[in-house]
Amino acid sequence: MKTRKVLAGIAAIGLALSLAACSGGTRGGTTTVDNTAGANKGALVGVAMPTKTSSRWIKDGDAVKASLEKLGYKVDLEYGDDKIPNQVQQISNMLTKGAKVLIIASIDGTALSDQLDQAAKSGVKVIAYDRLINGNKNVDYYTTFDNNEVGVQQATSLLTGLGVLGADGKDTGAAGPFNVELFAGSPDDNNATFFFNGAMDTLKPFIDKGVVVVKSGQVGFTQVATLRWDPATAQKRMQNLIASTYSDGSKVDGVLSPYDGLSIGIISALTSSGYTANALPIVTGQDAEAASVKSIVAGQQYSTIYKDTRLLGEEAVKMADDLLNGKTPEVNDTKSYNNKVKIVPTFLFPPKVVTKDNYKALLIDTGYYTEADLK
Ligand code: BGC
Repeated sequence: MKTRKVLAGIAAIGLALSLAACSGGTRGGTTTVDNTAGANKGALVGVAMPTKTSSRWIKDGDAVKASLEKLGYKVDLEYGDDKIPNQVQQISNMLTKGAKVLIIASIDGTALSDQLDQAAKSGVKVIAYDRLINGNKNVDYYTTFDNNEVGVQQATSLLTGLGVLGADGKDTGAAGPFNVELFAGSPDDNNATFFFNGAMDTLKPFIDKGVVVVKSGQVGFTQVATLRWDPATAQKRMQNLIASTYSDGSKVDGVLSPYDGLSIGIISALTSSGYTANALPIVTGQDAEAASVKSIVAGQQYSTIYKDTRLLGEEAVKMADDLLNGKTPEVNDTKSYNNKVKIVPTFLFPPKVVTKDNYKALLIDTGYYTEADLK
């Protein structure tokens, strides 16, 4: 999209007054941001994060804010407490305050259309952060990890933990059958289906052969999804599965969990139902949250997926800075992320599997955590 000059004189003053007058509202301006190099020194950037209940988003928010400030931008960093109306209001407020770029990790990827339309009217660029925003053309760029690959890695590590795949990734010929239960993330988060589909494509051949058995029969995304990624919901579902499907004395051998917070809930359900800490099923995860890494080191959770939030944060800031200086951000994927209206140009990072064997190299040697963080 072409950059346009901010209207000068009376019109601009009028707009400033009208924006000030509608503080907290959703009404937008009609002028546009000047994106020529240097024009946005010290400009305000709005950063909307979903929740503080998961430490990854706190790391993301901190990293984005610090990098923006280093470049001299002002930052309005807000957390939506996993409530859609909060996030809608926060983004409206950012626009009212005159933010020139929005970096958004959405709670519901379809709920922000009014705000995006308003942003576009004023020439404010929108970067979808980690989670794609769906159903609106005014999503300019997207940066995330390869979400399909996250699911592939989760399922692969589940199969490795069960002994179905060897360390070389090859089928060991283990016959099982291994009882596995599946969990997916929040249905309103675009990533959740990517994770689940990547995992199911990987598990399917083993389910088809009968090596892996989903004893509950719950294999559809909607059956296994967890609204708002809520750990308590996953804990309850795991408890119910144990009480129903496994009341015949059979054991759960593995659980596909898409996020560390859910893994913690799932493990609590297992231990409170009689599984001992040293005989837990293979449980996967995602985000390398400190609590889960500690659990992995203690031999409880089996694996997690490390997504270096520092890289993602830096990339989003680079995109914002480019956009504010009339440059075209670099992307490395122009086919995977169709938001139902258009394919959003994306910069993807690779995720990595973490287990007890490699956590030091991946998480401590890289400075993501200190030893003390994981004590
Ligand atoms: C993120 C994951 C995270 C999940 C729950 C997803 O959108 O990509 O990293 O585990 O949200 O917060």
